[in-house]
This record gives sequence, C-alpha cells and structure tokens, in this order.
Amino acid sequence: MDIQPFIDRRARLLDRMREGVAVLPTASEKVRNRDAFYPFRADSYFHYLTGFDEPEAVLVLIAGEQPQSILFCRDKDPDKEIWDGFRFGPEAARETFGFDETHSISTLDEKLPELIANQPALWHSLGFDVEWDARLGRALNAVRAQSRAGKRAPATIHDLRAVLDEMRLIKDGHEIALMRRAADIAAAGHRRAMRLTTPGRWEYEIEAEFLHEFRRQGSQFPAYTPIVASGPGACVLHYVANDRRMQDGELLLIDAGCELDGYASDITRTFPVNGRFSGPQEDVYALVEAAQEAAIAAIRPGVHFMAPHEAAVKVLAQGMIDLKLLHGSVDGVIESESYKRFYMHRTSHWLGIDVHDAGEYKIGRPGDDHWRPLAPGMVLTVEPGCYIRPADDVPAAFHHIGIRIEDDALVTPAGCDILTAAAPKSIADIEALMAERST
Ligand code: GLY
Ligand code: MN
Ligand code: MN
Repeated sequence: MDIQPFIDRRARLLDRMREGVAVLPTASEKVRNRDAFYPFRADSYFHYLTGFDEPEAVLVLIAGEQPQSILFCRDKDPDKEIWDGFRFGPEAARETFGFDETHSISTLDEKLPELIANQPALWHSLGFDVEWDARLGRALNAVRAQSRAGKRAPATIHDLRAVLDEMRLIKDGHEIALMRRAADIAAAGHRRAMRLTTPGRWEYEIEAEFLHEFRRQGSQFPAYTPIVASGPGACVLHYVANDRRMQDGELLLIDAGCELDGYASDITRTFPVNGRFSGPQEDVYALVEAAQEAAIAAIRPGVHFMAPHEAAVKVLAQGMIDLKLLHGSVDGVIESESYKRFYMHRTSHWLGIDVHDAGEYKIGRPGDDHWRPLAPGMVLTVEPGCYIRPADDVPAAFHHIGIRIEDDALVTPAGCDILTAAAPKSIADIEALMAERST
C-alpha cells in the first residue's frame, strides 16, 4: 500500500491546525448478535488520515513548529492472533504507516492528559461519540487538577470535522484513482445485472450478482445496501427488500455501488426486465436521461452546487407537462413545486469515503450563506429520477414506472468527467446488451 498520500494528508491537516492537539479515534466494533460482530470498517476520517484499518486505534496530532503524528493501537498478541489474525502492534505500525511515535492503546488514558496539557487548543469531533466526549472531559479535568503544578488545559476546543470536511471535499490523486476503480467495478456489476435479468428471476438473484462482481474484483463491501427494485418497488426510494419475482413488462431499478479501499461508487440504472422498453417506459426514460444530460452539462468549476439540480428540474418539469402528468407552465410547476410529486429528491450529493460524503453544501456566515461553488477535484452524483405511483389523475400507461439514472461526476477544470460511464445508459446500449442474453 502506498502510504505517502496518508502522510501528506496528516501534514496538510497539521498545517491547517497551526496549533493545538487533535484526538481522533477510529470506529468501535459493533456486536451484531452475541459473539458475532458486524464487519469492522474504520472511521472515515481516521482512514483518510492513516490508512490504518485495525479497530481500537486513536490518532493524536500535535501541531506547531515540530508537528507530530502519534498512533495508539493494539499490542501484538500471539494468542489473539491465532483466533483473529494479524495485528501490526505499535512498532510495525510506526514503520509501516509513517507515524512519528506509536504506543499501546492500553496506555492511552494515562498519556492523554500529558498530551493535551499546555496545548492552546484541543481539536475533537464533539458529540460524535458521547463516550469519547466523556473520556476527553476526564483527560481535561486531569490536567486542570494539576494547575498548581503549572499544567494548563487547552482554553479552546475546535471541531476537527470542520477542517477535515473541507479537505475531504477536494479529492487528491490517490483518492481519484480509487474512485475510478470503484466506479469501474460497480459499472461491471450493472452490466452483469443487465446480462442476467429475465422475467421470472428474483430480485435477490440479481443482488447476488452484484455482490459476486464486487467481491470478485477486490471490493471489500457494497457502499450501501443495494436497491434491486422491480415493478412497483421502483417507486419506493429506499426499497431494499429485494425479494420479489420480476415480471415480464416491468422495469428494474438498481441502485448499487461498491466500496474499494474505503471509497464508494454510487450508480443507478433502470432497464426493462424483458430487455425491451415499452412505449411509455421509453417516454419517461428519455425524459430522465435528458434531465441527467442537462444536469451533467451544468457541472463546471464556479457554478454553485444546486445548478445541476436546477437544470434537471427544468427539463423534468417540461417533460411532466408534455406527458400530461402535470398541467400548467414550466415556471408554474417549478414555483409551486408540483413536480415533487414525481421527483422528490435532490439531484446530487458529495461522494467519497462516505457514499453521502463529508462537506458542507452551503458556505458563508449563517444568514448570509449560499450554495458552495463547484471546484476541480470535487466528486458529486448526478441522479435525477421520475417516480409515478398509480393515481386517478395519472395516465394509466405510466403507473408504477419508476426511473432513476445515477452517475458519479468528478469536477475538472473544463467541466466534469463521468467516472461511471462504463455502465450502459442509452436505450440503444441497454437493449443491445440485453439482446445478447439469448445468444
Ligand atoms: N445510493 C444512495 C444514493 O443514491 O444516495
Ligand atoms: Mn446517490
Ligand atoms: Mn445511489
């Protein structure tokens, strides 16, 4: 593993902190039932700064003239390693991950007061984990108790996330390479799904094909629970039951992305179970595709975060009127928000280590804030949709048609680069790929 990007990020954070001490624990292990644990996943911020993915680890950063990066981690333990596998231990962790110092996690509570004493500021994600808030509170009190010996507790507490979120918004080369690969793997999953979907198969069989493709290509986890929604399920935004038998004539909406070395991809494709779009399905699909094209065309440095959404909504509003789903003018439909009956979510979110990645969407002082302008290195999804539930005032031909098309866009100096372009999207490409099924 190339550890330099992690060392560089710590250096950049230490530079931005200027002074003070940061304390950042990784995630805690979670029991699923009795002796069985959920698969461990490092805390996103912790992974971003260390690449060290063992549980029971804490990063301490000391800013100033001689910046220091210190890791507390589990000791080597030959007995435990027989059961649970390899652990680095402090010495190998220091050498492998480029820390200035490493210590046994068992010494943390004893060392914390020394580490924070006489520092002007403490950087911490207050409120993220109440047990950690209490632990740091105890360390602060331990320092205060030594005031007559000349020890001083930090007078200021900063939220570490505020500075880290800004850093995470702009992806570095190492992150972009991983996200490209995560996007390629997810796109391969979608191609596989198109090749294997037929009437009579079950949604979970297609979900299994994604898990197979993700794992086969080295992805550790799905980035989120895959949505494999046929027929009416396509209009349920967070449908995850994936337990229905797919019928001839229906659409299948699949929102599935993988996580590779900590980085997410997020792709949605919608296609006909039988491989051929019906007339009404094609009408709605072409509309969502046009909305997505307009949103993608709006992405470039300097435009604000909501510009792609506004572009998509404009196209969708006109299309909903043309299809007689709504009545009135485009401006009227947008003004009254009546389009939200069929398109009720936003078009984009940041993407990165978290599928809904870190980073404020608005900037400026509260009361005088505005949507953040896009900048090269940001990654956002572009995912317009149209979800038509049956109703008396809606043409019956459109009932249960639920379509979303989602790609991942990297903002570049000239516009954007679609990382997920390898997942077929045009009606012609989808039908051509699905036509290969029977040959
Ligand atoms: N798959 C989660 C999302 O699209 O936001
Ligand atoms: Mn998304
Ligand atoms: Mn998605």
